[in-house]
Amino acid sequence: MKDIMIATGNPNKVREYREMLEPLGYKVHDLSEIEHIEVEETGDTFEANALIKAFSVNRSVNMMTIADDSGLEITCLNNEPGIHSARYLAGHDYAYKNRVLIERVRGAADRSARFVCAIALVEGEKKARTFVGVMEGEIAEEPRGNNGFGYDPIFLVPQYGMTSAQLTPEQKNSISHRGQATRALLAYLNEKNEETA
Ligand code: IMP
Repeated sequence: MKDIMIATGNPNKVREYREMLEPLGYKVHDLSEIEHIEVEETGDTFEANALIKAFSVNRSVNMMTIADDSGLEITCLNNEPGIHSARYLAGHDYAYKNRVLIERVRGAADRSARFVCAIALVEGEKKARTFVGVMEGEIAEEPRGNNGFGYDPIFLVPQYGMTSAQLTPEQKNSISHRGQATRALLAYLNEKNEETA
């Protein structure tokens, strides 16, 4: 079995990666197994921040490392909250953050927005690649739906005419930024497996 480290403190992400990677023959490790590493996300793109996280952790472990970074870009707000999505209006819950964003977008001619996810895979000190997924949509007039998390209730998915919080997890995964980036990562790992088989 090959070892792979998931560089995230989010247990849901660890579980999802474990479900996808174990069938490919990977033994999935997470940050609870190593000493805490403080990582400053100083990059100005999702890809840069994913790489910073993956490289920082990879220096302490002797195995391939995955990290991801994601967020919501709103065109008429200069792509805010963007890479600051997790920290935007820190201390407030998402019901509040979502109301604020709807107010900020009210009246805008262009309500377009996108969720972006970058996954970085570090295979060695100088060997890394990133996989990026983008889901295009619009900011809804009102929050709707109880599935998903974060900004899902205000993100309108045009092909469904629903917010991503109204989609089932399967529907969301099949089109989402994270689903796309993950499938690209898995395709790469599969190819790699076949080469070394
Ligand atoms: P991180 O990728 O853990 O740094 O978190 C990114 C932040 O972007 C999350 O805390 C959410 O606020 C937001 N975000 C990323 N992906 C999604 C999504 O699929 N739905 C809703 N919000 C998301």
